[in-house]
Amino acid sequence: MASNCNLLSVLGVLVFSLFHNLVLVSGQNLPAVALFTFGDSNFDAGNRKFITRATIAQNFWPYGKSRDDPNGKYSDGKIIPDFIAKFMGSPHDLPPAFKPGVDVSRGASFAVGLASILGSPKDSLTLNQQVRRFNQMISNWKEDYIQKSLFMISIGMEDYYNFTKSNPNADASAQQAFVTSVTNRLKSDIKLLYSSGASKFVVHMLPPLGCLPIVRQEFETGNDCYEKLNDLARQHNAKIGPMLNEMAKAKTDFQFTVFDFYNVVLRRTQRNMNYRFSFTNISCCGIGTHNAYGCGLPNVHSKLCEYQRSYLYFDARHNTEKAQESFAHLLFGGDPNVVQPMTVRELIAYPVNEPMREFWKEPEEENLLLVDDIDFDANASM
Ligand SMILES: *[C@@H]1O[C@H](CO)[C@@H](O)[C@H](O)[C@H]1NC(C)=O
Ligand SMILES: *[C@@H]1O[C@H](CO)[C@@H](O)[C@H](O)[C@H]1NC(C)=O
Repeated sequence: MASNCNLLSVLGVLVFSLFHNLVLVSGQNLPAVALFTFGDSNFDAGNRKFITRATIAQNFWPYGKSRDDPNGKYSDGKIIPDFIAKFMGSPHDLPPAFKPGVDVSRGASFAVGLASILGSPKDSLTLNQQVRRFNQMISNWKEDYIQKSLFMISIGMEDYYNFTKSNPNADASAQQAFVTSVTNRLKSDIKLLYSSGASKFVVHMLPPLGCLPIVRQEFETGNDCYEKLNDLARQHNAKIGPMLNEMAKAKTDFQFTVFDFYNVVLRRTQRNMNYRFSFTNISCCGIGTHNAYGCGLPNVHSKLCEYQRSYLYFDARHNTEKAQESFAHLLFGGDPNVVQPMTVRELIAYPVNEPMREFWKEPEEENLLLVDDIDFDANASM
């Protein structure tokens, strides 16, 4: 018996160390490249205070509460790009590009809260202006390093929110025309990044905008989502995959993947307890019917929920750190019903200049209903 036990424990150690080595080796297979992000508040790593003199609520408690660090991010803690940077082996959170003297050797965020694709947003930058700022800083990185690095884009929320507020009675053809102008401009901005040397793109679809607490509150939809905005988001999203397919077919060194942020958020909204979110129709911090106003503003006595990790939304339009961490896991290694035609990990490992073999495909309806994730609460880093 005793020798059997010893044999078993020796085997156990062997199996453990084999497995351990495999993890390390595959970790080393991933080249140490940079991460660059562009877009709106979802990806703003604290840039906005370097763009405007306006008071920015995100620099004040309770933003950053879960990390004891209000640093201009639109969350109670870290945001998606911080987790992706960590998975990529970067030793620190993704820094804001506009902070003077910051270390940009493993990339930076060019995203700014309130950024849009069209228009000229006050106290923010359009995507096009962000790309131009990147070009002004381009001497920080070697050409082949830029080509191997990851460019993540999350934008469009402000365009459609603004459009719906300014044109509450827009008919179907006015909506289609607006979606076309937004996506055409997005395409030309991505082309501009490509002509600056970027070749690996991760593009987020829009989340269900009509389900954001700010939209439910402003349009007084109660426990329902505002379908008009969800519909605009779906029209926008339907153009993203085909547009990127076309670009990759035209330029053989253009590589991309698309994150289905829409269905990822919708699943958590509709079947919240599968993902351990007790509250998905109101935000954790703020005042109003859906706690969707004033989080972090000094003159507002906004409410703060007791336990951030049971909320999908931290403020009126941004997710909690818990939600963002699970989104990052999905981006990096999720199923094709969430991120396709490849995961972010595969995109990083994919040889540069190698044409893509698989392209984005219209997902099948039944795949969209699947549960996409385990509960990451158990192994969350605190
Ligand atoms: C919002 O819409 C108005 C009117 O259509 C426009 O003037 C403004 O530039 C837009 N703002 C953003 C952030 O797109
Ligand atoms: C949010 O959802 C809960 C549970 O479904 C419901 O009781 C509550 O009334 C909803 N809150 C709002 C503001 O719609």
